[in-house]
Amino acid sequence: MTRFPDGFLWGVATSAFQIEGSLAADGRGPSIWDVFPSEAGETGAVACDHYRRWRDDVDLLASLGVNAYRFSIAWPRLLPDGFGRVEQRGVDHYSRVIDALLERGIEPIVTLYHWDLPQALEDEGGWRSRDTAERFVEYARLCFDAYGDRVKWWLTINEPWIVGLLGYLHGLHAPGYRDDVRGEVAVFHHLLLAHGRAVAAYGGGGRIGIALNLCPHYPATDDAADVEASNASDGYVNRWFLDPLYRAAYPDDMRRRYERLVGELDFVHDGDMAVIAQPTGYLGINYYAPRFVQAAPGDAPWPWRVIVPDEVPTTAGFTGGIPHTDAGTPVVPRALTDLLVRVRDDYGAPPIVVTENGAVYPDRVHDARRVAFIRDHVAALYDALERGVPVLGYCHWSLLDNFEWRLGYAQRFGLVHVDYETQERTVKDSGRYYAALARRNAL
Ligand code: FCB
Repeated sequence: MTRFPDGFLWGVATSAFQIEGSLAADGRGPSIWDVFPSEAGETGAVACDHYRRWRDDVDLLASLGVNAYRFSIAWPRLLPDGFGRVEQRGVDHYSRVIDALLERGIEPIVTLYHWDLPQALEDEGGWRSRDTAERFVEYARLCFDAYGDRVKWWLTINEPWIVGLLGYLHGLHAPGYRDDVRGEVAVFHHLLLAHGRAVAAYGGGGRIGIALNLCPHYPATDDAADVEASNASDGYVNRWFLDPLYRAAYPDDMRRRYERLVGELDFVHDGDMAVIAQPTGYLGINYYAPRFVQAAPGDAPWPWRVIVPDEVPTTAGFTGGIPHTDAGTPVVPRALTDLLVRVRDDYGAPPIVVTENGAVYPDRVHDARRVAFIRDHVAALYDALERGVPVLGYCHWSLLDNFEWRLGYAQRFGLVHVDYETQERTVKDSGRYYAALARRNAL
């Protein structure tokens, strides 16, 4: 039996926009996602109706036996205009949720920004504008003041890379810009700056960090060009965020690539890097899948391509016949061990919480593949613990099937099935499995 350390956090994760609905309730202001439909034309107007059903959902969490719950606060509920006027009903809502969690012995892990930027701030330039980082700190302070006596785990920003990649380069996420490389890299910088300033504003009493989605990289072949392409892509996805956070500098190779494309990165001001590199209490890592990279010299903006290989050369040797989730994502648990060990080796062993990990499987209740997915990823995490990586917790994505951004309601990630007609919740086999795992604190 593999026993986890005492106090290990067994959590599930959600985000406000993906589950709450009730977009006009209690004075909430509009966000950039309200008007950004999924590919099938769906919106988060109802989602899991969680804003109204939150009490039942907290009971559901308790029934799953988890000791942590990662959720996000909707900025536009607290500050409908993005800054200034405070909507007390929004403040009170999350206060009640936090109390209900604590009463049931569930540690709240609060994400401040999970993509639902107030529309009023987008109208002023959104994350392209440095001012948005200042607005974010005002919002973060409000949250620290309102909830800091009870919340001990904070996450500033969720997945800055995805915000830029899908929101500014591919036009797949709000605010929906395309091919804007300069916008992307400016947004990355302002998100990191917002993180650093919020960390500086945090008065302590708990831990604060950022949630990065990191992808372990593997070259598609041993060919020198593929090895170089894989390292370059790692610079884009991983080092562009880890280096400033832990080394107070952007990686030179990637900085040169950006400068060749968009000119001087003049939005990086003196002193910014020290702000971004503020010491934090932990690092949140969202892990879904590795990237297998092939050189693609003619491709723009980046000369590499992510491929879906037949076998994967992890540090444990080649894994043949890779399974895929229903979203087409390769399932490679071993890559999670590689990733955690690498962050320890390269970045000075920050305490880590795996803040997301999960898979799309359509099975209504008997989701054997999700059970296997959880077991294998938790085992991979355990291997990293055995190798001395300080991992403090694991949050499965997600508690509920929910609004999966551009993929809408078709892609189900939940431990709990949601019938969107009736809003009925049904715990899947994976939910039962996870509950048992959390209770035993052992695999
Ligand atoms: C992550 C997001 C989360 C959810 C999962 C599937 O990128 O943080 O909101 O969409 O992917």
